Amino acid sequence: MLADKDRIFTNLYGFQEWGLKAAQARGDWDATKKLMAVGQDAIIEEIKASGLRGRGGAGFPTGLKWSFMPKESKDGRPSFLVINADESEPGSCKDREIIRHDPHKLVEGALIAGYAMRARAAYIYIRGEFIREAETLFKAVAEAYDAGLLGKNAAGSGYDFDVFVHRGAGAYICGEETAMIESLEGKKGQPRLKPPFPAGAGLYGCPTTVNNVESIAVVPTILRRGASWFSSFGRENNKGTKLFQISGHVNTPCVVEEAMSIPFSELIEKHCGGIRGGKDNLLAVIPGGSSVPLVPAEQIWDAPMDFDGLKELGSGLGTAGVIVMDKSTDVVRAISRISAFYKHESCGQCTPCREGTGWMWRVMERLRTGDSSPEEIDMLFQVTKQVEGHTICALGDAAAWPIQGLIRHYRPELERRIAERQGELAQAAE
Ligand code: NAI
Ligand code: SF4
Repeated sequence: MLADKDRIFTNLYGFQEWGLKAAQARGDWDATKKLMAVGQDAIIEEIKASGLRGRGGAGFPTGLKWSFMPKESKDGRPSFLVINADESEPGSCKDREIIRHDPHKLVEGALIAGYAMRARAAYIYIRGEFIREAETLFKAVAEAYDAGLLGKNAAGSGYDFDVFVHRGAGAYICGEETAMIESLEGKKGQPRLKPPFPAGAGLYGCPTTVNNVESIAVVPTILRRGASWFSSFGRENNKGTKLFQISGHVNTPCVVEEAMSIPFSELIEKHCGGIRGGKDNLLAVIPGGSSVPLVPAEQIWDAPMDFDGLKELGSGLGTAGVIVMDKSTDVVRAISRISAFYKHESCGQCTPCREGTGWMWRVMERLRTGDSSPEEIDMLFQVTKQVEGHTICALGDAAAWPIQGLIRHYRPELERRIAERQGELAQAAE
């Protein structure tokens, strides 16, 4: 279990004040100027050495992403940092806690990361529904300006840097990085084709990096304590500490910072009071937010909770939004509900997603009630394969994968429902 002294988020539960004074007492904004004085390239190298991988879900190496940003401005165009606080993935609720209780970690991280990638400003795009969190963030940014930590000569570093907070309006798809950029530009939030990646052409056509809240908020501590400290946690290629968010059928659902690669069983037993009704009552787990396939109980119990360990199980770490389902769960209904979510949130721009999400949801509903046929299970699987990898953004994949996981692991349950329903209909006809 991670020792208290190794936790980055020391006010995760809001036992102390979130404001600037209290944050400074916890070590935030301590000699920020000195951290920056090592130079932009040295900061990027340190983040690379730490092994930090993006905490928004995809796990792209953070230092590498920063290194794609130009060192010299082309045609006087500025560079930007965009911070993704549009946390909307079902099962995910960690960025919300950071902003509520530790916003200065994010604001200080924005300055240092922005400086490292030579950005003129950071835009923090916060989910529209996070009303109180946005209020806190606006106040934290204002406090930082008042204290000279942002703006001209930010934190005495000689670097000018602004932070703007922008509120979203409730569309899940605006959490996709290029849809977020469109939305910031005042347009309808629809993903762009990649490449070009944002580092080539991002906000207002300028070089841009989009990072998740947690990825940015851990940066000051990594620099203070050193890359080797951060990389001492977790397995090779899966380094650092991580916020896990455990919901569903555990005795005490929680958000907790733990070492990467912690076994699922330890996470649940040490922090969540165990599975409701005991270990034998566990049915399945969606380990990384609703976009990743579920994993049956017998496979997940001893699995390391990291990018590679969960990939080997045909799933993923995603946002580490761990949704636990015990044996009282109607797993077909659960996945059908997730399908309805993606159908609702599809931006409608590309055909496989616009048509496919609705189609998949309608078949899922038939499978839920059993008003289907065994052939339709195979047809549904084939349709998920037609959607996967054939869309502009990852929402198509996210809609396909949970269904693939269900069919892979629970085909007998789907067939049982169909047989039972056919039996009922035959009886009614007699
Ligand atoms: P992605 O794999 O396309 O990209 C990840 C990041 O790496 C992006 O910033 C991208 O620009 C960058 N990147 C990837 N390849 C690159 C290259 N060759 N050159 C330069 N940059 C490159 O994944 P995406 O679409 O950004 O994220 C998908 C994930 O987001 C899902 O796996 C899901 O877990 C997560 N997600 C999280 C949500 C949340 O609320 N936090 C909501 C929905 C999805
Ligand atoms: Fe829009 Fe879906 Fe296409 Fe993404 S995959 S661009 S959400 S239609």
